[in-house]
Amino acid sequence: MRAVAVRKIGDRPELMELPVAHPGPGEILVKLTSASVNPIDLGIAAGLLPMPQVFPLVLGVDGAGRVVEVGEGVSGFSVGDVVHGQFLRAPLGHGTFAEYALVTQAPDNGALRLVPDGMPDEIAAALPTAGMTALGALDAIGLRAGQSMLIVGATGGVGVFAVQLAAARGVEVIATARPEADGWIRGRGAAHTVDHTAGEVAEQVRKTHPGGVDAVLDMTRDPDGFAKNAGLVRDGGVAVSPALIATPQLLASERISVINFMMRDKPNLLAGITAEAAAGRITVPIQRTVALDEVPAVLAHSSAGGARGKTTVRI
Ligand SMILES: NC(=O)c1ccc[n+]([C@@H]2O[C@H](COP(=O)([O-])OP(=O)(O)OC[C@H]3O[C@@H](n4cnc5c(N)ncnc54)[C@H](OP(=O)(O)O)[C@@H]3O)[C@@H](O)[C@H]2O)c1
Repeated sequence: MRAVAVRKIGDRPELMELPVAHPGPGEILVKLTSASVNPIDLGIAAGLLPMPQVFPLVLGVDGAGRVVEVGEGVSGFSVGDVVHGQFLRAPLGHGTFAEYALVTQAPDNGALRLVPDGMPDEIAAALPTAGMTALGALDAIGLRAGQSMLIVGATGGVGVFAVQLAAARGVEVIATARPEADGWIRGRGAAHTVDHTAGEVAEQVRKTHPGGVDAVLDMTRDPDGFAKNAGLVRDGGVAVSPALIATPQLLASERISVINFMMRDKPNLLAGITAEAAAGRITVPIQRTVALDEVPAVLAHSSAGGARGKTTVRI
């Protein structure tokens, strides 16, 4: 099969021809039709996830496709089922940037579900990691209608779901966006925007919201920027970093709650975000769709800027 993989940690991802693995007990083989790209893909290629690995290590955690083989003892999934999810399992290396992926029935670190009737595979593949993160982070923040939240990284994969979910809960959303994405993110529920390329975000927000905000959800990997944005949060509010960059000093704050957000109960989060999309309460914006052989170039330029939702892979 064709797959995008690395031969060792630190290598640049490349398209390879690899054998198809067959499912052992409790495992499922999925013939993928669609996958989506997440920052964690490069993190895995760099060895940042502390999990066992097999090489060549096929990258990609999000995907959708059809079950073509099930191992002994598998229940709840049968050959022919159309499934989607976060195919994270130990050992890492049977990912979704491939024609086939091997997943465990109850992925030890991910989540797998049947795709709802009528949902296109591409949408089902775009949802899992970013959507589950947005839903889990918003649940952890727990805002009420009428409260305010700054979302930094609002136009990216996690951000675009977070903006929509928060707006649907009646939260006043202040979203970061480049000027060219301003109308696009307002159209998804942002009440205000801040151009993160035009100066410090916290400084700009303080001008329009001198009393601060109730919460900050900051997707960036800049600890100083996060600390400044957390400084906007009113006493008793919450600042969340899905990129896990809140410093110990900030985490110890007694003034506000500061959370380095890690997902818990992924099967429920996947069910929740998929239900939101299936009911049309959120849209799943796909910025572009690429072919499998374009994935190495997409990963090489993934920090180029100008995100507008998700990049999906047609397989
Ligand atoms: N903890 C978890 O379970 C978990 C799960 C998923 C993701 N994450 C983390 O969450 C983060 C976001 O993931 P994603 O999938 O949303 O990534 P993404 O699609 O690449 O989006 C990144 C977003 O951040 C914006 N951005 C980048 N630098 C910025 C800056 N200095 N100031 C303001 N905005 C900036 C980008 O806007 P421009 O492109 O316009 O600059 C874009 O909107 C990543 O760090 C990822 O690793 C964590």
